[in-house]
Amino acid sequence: MIKIAPSLLAADMGDLRRAVAQVEAAGADYLHLDVMDGAFVPNISYGPAVIKALRPNSQLFFDVHLMVEEPGRFLSDYAAAGADLLTVHFEACRHLHRVVQQIKALGLKAGVALNPATPPEVLQDILPELDLVLIMSVNPGFGGQSFIPAALGKIARTAAMLRQIGSQADLEVDGGIYAANAGPVMQAGANVLVSGTGVFGQPDWAAAIAGLRSATEK
Ligand code: DX5
Ligand code: ZN
Repeated sequence: MIKIAPSLLAADMGDLRRAVAQVEAAGADYLHLDVMDGAFVPNISYGPAVIKALRPNSQLFFDVHLMVEEPGRFLSDYAAAGADLLTVHFEACRHLHRVVQQIKALGLKAGVALNPATPPEVLQDILPELDLVLIMSVNPGFGGQSFIPAALGKIARTAAMLRQIGSQADLEVDGGIYAANAGPVMQAGANVLVSGTGVFGQPDWAAAIAGLRSATEK
């Protein structure tokens, strides 16, 4: 069963509380929260204070994507803010294994994200520890970019690696996802689809989420 994770980055930043309530009512499974530090990526979004302010208003699973250099410095802030899962970038952690253990010690689920130029095989030794692998299908930093087709092969390779070790981890894909390409992304092996512009940029969010879901059922 596919999960749809609307990315709040594409919502009205002046009215996030309403956006979260409405996207929850529209049928979202996860709420994808993009944290950008202006160092790992050339953009700044929001941090733990905003996530904490949104938490009491939502039952959604808070899927926090940290596009932050050395995120190990801030994990407890995001746990206290109410994150359910923290995804860190392979490229941003000098000691990835330690960071993953720290996330789990905080009682949260742990994910690792890969930039478009990073092959999934780098995750071989950490894979059994992970609850989620995030394949970036754009270069992180901005919403509204085009899906990079080479992501499909990476999704398939990652799915095979997960199968091989009997892992039940989520395989999430992020960037440039719409109903038009959701089918091939799911067929390659993904089970969580992040979509920012594909949901919040559409006039009817419930229809957009339903469209993503039905595109994976054909
Ligand atoms: C990009 C973020 C994405 C972004 C996706 O750095 O990680 O989650 O919000 O936006 P769309 O779906 O518009 O490509
Ligand atoms: Zn993201």
